[in-house]
Amino acid sequence: MSREHEIRVDFNPSGQSVYVLPGTLLLEAAERAGVAIENACDGRGTCGKCRVKIISGRVQSNDQPGLGREDAARGYRLACRTRVLEDSVVELPAIAARSEQHQVLTSRAAFEQLRLAPGIARQDFRLAPPSREAAQADAERLAAALGDCRIPYRILKEHPRQLRAMDWQGIALLRGNELIGLDEASSHAGIYGIAFDIGSTTIVGALFDLESADELAVASELNPQVKYGADVVSRIERVRGNAELLPELQGLVLDAVRRIIRQLSGQAGVSAGRIYRLALAGNSTMQQLLLGIDPSPLGELPFTQAFARHQRVAADDLELACNPAAEVLIMPQIGGFVGGDTVAAMAAAGIERCSGPTLLIDIGTNGELVLSDGQSISAASAAAGPAFEGARIEQGMRAAEGAIEKVAVKDGKLLINVIGDRPPIGLCGTALIDAIAVLLDLGILAPDGRLRDRSGMPAGITDDLAGRIVETSNGKAFVLAREQESGGDRPIAISERDISEAQLCVGAIRAGINLLLRRHGLRAADLKEVLLAGAFGNYIRKQNARRIGLIPNIPTECIRFIGNAALHGAVRILLNAAESGYTDRLASATQHFDLSMSPDFQDEFAQAMFFPTTCVADN
Ligand code: FES
Repeated sequence: MSREHEIRVDFNPSGQSVYVLPGTLLLEAAERAGVAIENACDGRGTCGKCRVKIISGRVQSNDQPGLGREDAARGYRLACRTRVLEDSVVELPAIAARSEQHQVLTSRAAFEQLRLAPGIARQDFRLAPPSREAAQADAERLAAALGDCRIPYRILKEHPRQLRAMDWQGIALLRGNELIGLDEASSHAGIYGIAFDIGSTTIVGALFDLESADELAVASELNPQVKYGADVVSRIERVRGNAELLPELQGLVLDAVRRIIRQLSGQAGVSAGRIYRLALAGNSTMQQLLLGIDPSPLGELPFTQAFARHQRVAADDLELACNPAAEVLIMPQIGGFVGGDTVAAMAAAGIERCSGPTLLIDIGTNGELVLSDGQSISAASAAAGPAFEGARIEQGMRAAEGAIEKVAVKDGKLLINVIGDRPPIGLCGTALIDAIAVLLDLGILAPDGRLRDRSGMPAGITDDLAGRIVETSNGKAFVLAREQESGGDRPIAISERDISEAQLCVGAIRAGINLLLRRHGLRAADLKEVLLAGAFGNYIRKQNARRIGLIPNIPTECIRFIGNAALHGAVRILLNAAESGYTDRLASATQHFDLSMSPDFQDEFAQAMFFPTTCVADN
């Protein structure tokens, strides 16, 4: 088909454009133009995340349940349900335009305690040049000088030339008894490694000096697989429906890992060829997709994983541009959806050493829950959904610039804090929790998730607060920033539909916690400590998370943040080769509790959907 038959679609404000055939879905046109539009509901038209504004050009839309009437009247359309019919100009939402900016949490202090033993050693050597009297083969003399090491083909084919160029002396790099590199005697080149947290939503990498344990750089990016669904279940379903998508999903995550490697080595001024070791922690689906292993069995009862023990893969096999001898360590997995990120978090927290009943909660797209009663450990994965990562919340976004991240009420006035100190364009998960907690405390929100009418406000509610209740196509909503305060073209609000998404998330996690406690014969009050892990977990305000029932009703001094524990766990195996065996033992000693098989789950979930009426008071 010639270009005359194609139409041009321009995307503002990014400036990208693309030629496509008339009738192409806007979402596809955006993808071909290299514009990332979130596709959280897999194109079902329900999440509203792909909302764009049509500035010019004729388009045709199918039903758009995730788009409000007012928005449709103002020219907005859902890119997943809209086809372009002629040359068009499309404006991307401010949220999409900023989606590449993330708050990333790492903690230098958390890595400082680690014992450094990455399993790669330097050894100086000096060989006598060959002579008539001693004309032994180069490889035999080198291996003998290094304690009978194994010389792989990659070095075998180069070493005669290298040894002569080095004048028979230098530094050998050894991994166990395998020779992995030869450096000049005068070389000061370092040995480096990268730990990765491969999240469903965000991928984070941290570059380390493997000889000093110094963290040199941290980088992250949005997991490009989000265009195949915000949660792992959607991605598994896509692969189950079309096996040819597996290489595409693997390629997307590996490309992100490659970009992060380039970014980290550039930031730290380190050659990627000096990276000898990578350690990756992700949930079961992400680890399998990254390795190109079909995750379909995770989508069918009894939710079977492909492997349990940690895996070692050559970086070359994954076409990662590091040293050709680099190896990639993949975390062990426990069972079902409880994967390597949970094992990594458990290792980082040292959960098996906790003296009393301890609950570890990692709140992400899945809520990973681990309970140790001091004798035995159980782990479960609650399908929390991505509400607290901004997905399925009409004006939700990740914790990036322009997101309302905090909501409070003081002297009858609403206060908000916005990341980047600028007019808000959406709200992130912490603000959603704050807003629900505040509205529950004020009596504006009932435990069943319904907002009161303006006319039915409890005594003492100011006009400022009462006036923020508005009617929308998603039910009543509470306005956090009025139109004139907003950085977009509409007020920022949370609707009853958003609140019910939060109820689903809280309900799944709380039901999981209650069932785990019951399995160990414990009550919430018996918990000595609750450890909150994950980038999100570390920004939430404990009292508010407890108020909405997301974490157990225990004094806040018993609730402790432990940072991005999945990344910290990956750092442990990066810096200490013996940790792989330890994480295998930890994973096999942990019992997988499959919540979906529990006959009590549905009842527990239905009850947990109601927000608590009260909470314990702190001193
Ligand atoms: S509404 Fe279009 S991707 Fe969800």
